[in-house]
Amino acid sequence: MTTPANALDMSSYWMPFTANRQFKSEPRIITAAEGMHYTKEDGGTLLDASAGLWCVNAGHGRKEIADAVQRQLLTLDYSPPFQMGQPGAFDFAARVAKLAPKGLDRVFFTNSGSEAVDTALKIALAYHKAKGEGGRFRIIGREKGYNGVGFGGISVGGLVNNRRQFAGQLLPAVDHLPHTFDLKKSAFSRGQPEHGVEKADALESLIALHGADTIAAVIVEPVAGSAGVLPPPKGYLERLREITSKNGILLIFDEVITGFGRLGAPFAAQRFGVTPDMITCAKGITNGALPMGAVLASRTVHDALMTGPDNAIELFHGYTYSAHPTACAAGMATLDIYEREGLLTRVKEIEQHFEDAVHSLKSKPHIIDIRNIGLMGAIELQPREDGAGKRGYDLMVDCFKSGLLIRVTGDIVAMSPPLIVKTSEIDEIVSMLGAALDRLK
Ligand SMILES: Cc1ncc(COP(=O)(O)O)c(C=O)c1O
Repeated sequence: MTTPANALDMSSYWMPFTANRQFKSEPRIITAAEGMHYTKEDGGTLLDASAGLWCVNAGHGRKEIADAVQRQLLTLDYSPPFQMGQPGAFDFAARVAKLAPKGLDRVFFTNSGSEAVDTALKIALAYHKAKGEGGRFRIIGREKGYNGVGFGGISVGGLVNNRRQFAGQLLPAVDHLPHTFDLKKSAFSRGQPEHGVEKADALESLIALHGADTIAAVIVEPVAGSAGVLPPPKGYLERLREITSKNGILLIFDEVITGFGRLGAPFAAQRFGVTPDMITCAKGITNGALPMGAVLASRTVHDALMTGPDNAIELFHGYTYSAHPTACAAGMATLDIYEREGLLTRVKEIEQHFEDAVHSLKSKPHIIDIRNIGLMGAIELQPREDGAGKRGYDLMVDCFKSGLLIRVTGDIVAMSPPLIVKTSEIDEIVSMLGAALDRLK
């Protein structure tokens, strides 16, 4: 039996991306979830404005997923993924491939977004090597990028706090594009900002500096999520695609957040009409129910590696839990729900309502920017003089107490409700957030 929340010994659990001492002095414990709501330890509810952590796209407590996982556990709990296969892995890969942009139908499974990113970076290097271009070893990421927490991911990522403690051992051959955020020109933009396409031209400068023949890949989130919802300026992704194609550089979209319907299409690549060479995804792939991630690679990338003697392992990479039977089963049940309920495209119908609702907060205190795209929205607050992030933290705590779950990074509030959200629930989220902003110092 689980220990009642108020009797928990909290000393052993080292919490991830959490101010441990602060949390343990004033814990926020969640005990259950269903639909759009969590239950707190005091029995109160939390309206989930962040789909857990951008992952519970079909809402909580989906019985079909639980049943599929239970059935799978009792049929085949585990089988080794190296040199062996289980039917669910092939079925699920084929199913994910069907949703992917045309041509990106080769699927490598991982257990998280971070692993998907590191896997994609390795595939990029291996691809060029297989083509006899092993001199292409450099990878270009982007400032303000979040690409998970592996050494590859933090090296190409561009969030200083994720890099600082580990700076001595980041990957050496990495450079960064500038981020696209321009508060002066683009504050309160709705959807893609008008300004900023020229930020993609910085890739030309990096190519001039390093030489195209040393660059393996460029990795960007089509919409930067963790940095606080930064939609790409109009024409920006197209321009990156143009420059990478012209120079034989692979383009990787990190769609760990944007994958599986968040922008009204299965992947952001389809929404923006720009097809990269690889996509990394995770989170919504199992509705957050079990850990899983994937890399979707183009046939060109995949086929370049399928060379050498028949008995040669083409890619020396993989995880004990790659394509874990339960994760594949959860993924299949998740995609059944997404497809049956039209969730991969539903955002198109509610996105305008969401945009208007989020921007209606403009006149609330402390707000310096509001931005949105698909079912992703962010509100940026003026940092308080006593320290950056304090106002954001206070807002998150106030919302938690009053029954709303939001995601806060520094002084930026991100909203990404489950894709099942009703328009009345969007209004409720905004009204609760507005009331909390009114109370905020
Ligand atoms: C764009 C992006 N890439 C990678 C990751 C890392 O995923 P995970 O936390 O599953 O390792 C995240 C997580 O939020 C993400 O947003």
